[in-house]
Amino acid sequence: MFRLRHSFFLSALLLSLAAIQTTQAAVEYVVNYNAGSSGGGVRFTNEIGTDYSRQTLTSATDFIWKLFQQNNDADRKNVPKVTLFIDNMDGVAYAVNNEIHVNANYLGNYSGDVKREFTGVLYHEMTHIWQWNGNGQAPGGLIEGIADFVRLRAGYAPSHWVQPGQGDRWDQGYDVTARFLDYCNDLMNGFVAELNKKMRNGYNDSYFVELLGKSVGQLWNDYKAKYGGKQ
Ligand SMILES: *[C@@H]1O[C@H](CO)[C@@H](O)[C@H](O)[C@H]1NC(C)=O
Ligand SMILES: *[C@@H]1O[C@H](CO)[C@@H](O)[C@H](O)[C@H]1NC(C)=O
Repeated sequence: MFRLRHSFFLSALLLSLAAIQTTQAAVEYVVNYNAGSSGGGVRFTNEIGTDYSRQTLTSATDFIWKLFQQNNDADRKNVPKVTLFIDNMDGVAYAVNNEIHVNANYLGNYSGDVKREFTGVLYHEMTHIWQWNGNGQAPGGLIEGIADFVRLRAGYAPSHWVQPGQGDRWDQGYDVTARFLDYCNDLMNGFVAELNKKMRNGYNDSYFVELLGKSVGQLWNDYKAKYGGKQ
């Protein structure tokens, strides 16, 4: 009796492990700690760590696939492996060739909740791994704006960002464009997902008209007016 139940549970366990492997084996995540004993490296190890980093790479990907409405492999970029490097370098972070590089010095000097900041940076950079770029034709400011929009929607916008309504141009990039996209997405739930889907093969400002019925210039004017033309 016990043996029967035991083997039943064992098979159920093996079956569910197999299911987990077929849905999750698609992307491999590697963390490459390269910051030696620098101050930033020590702070990374003490306050963040490689285990949390790997978990965050996974959760960021899940969040991005959901937000972009990419439910199966055919909708997604083919990325078998993402490697995160913790380096001593300049700047904050960048993504290239399915690698994310984060500056340990930046983390070391960050005043405030460095784990939350690191998480937000990973959501931004991971968006670059998965988003479409209009075959290289999309404005750089839109690419960066979508990455910060994801960070915003994930709940990791830092306090130093511009407020809604601030900024000079819709494609200024980063927080300015993220706030504008947030406004557009409130007009039509799923707007950013649809925009990203259109950017798979090319880019045209007319995508805004096709999705929202107004030119991007008109939308920017409406957005600025909503917030009283704040600078
Ligand atoms: C952090 O501070 C160190 C000196 O303590 C400096 O060398 C480094 O450039 C700083 N990094 C950043 C990103 O500001
Ligand atoms: C962008 O779309 C507009 C309107 O559909 C079209 O007239 C224009 O030729 C397109 N531009 C490019 C570069 O494809």
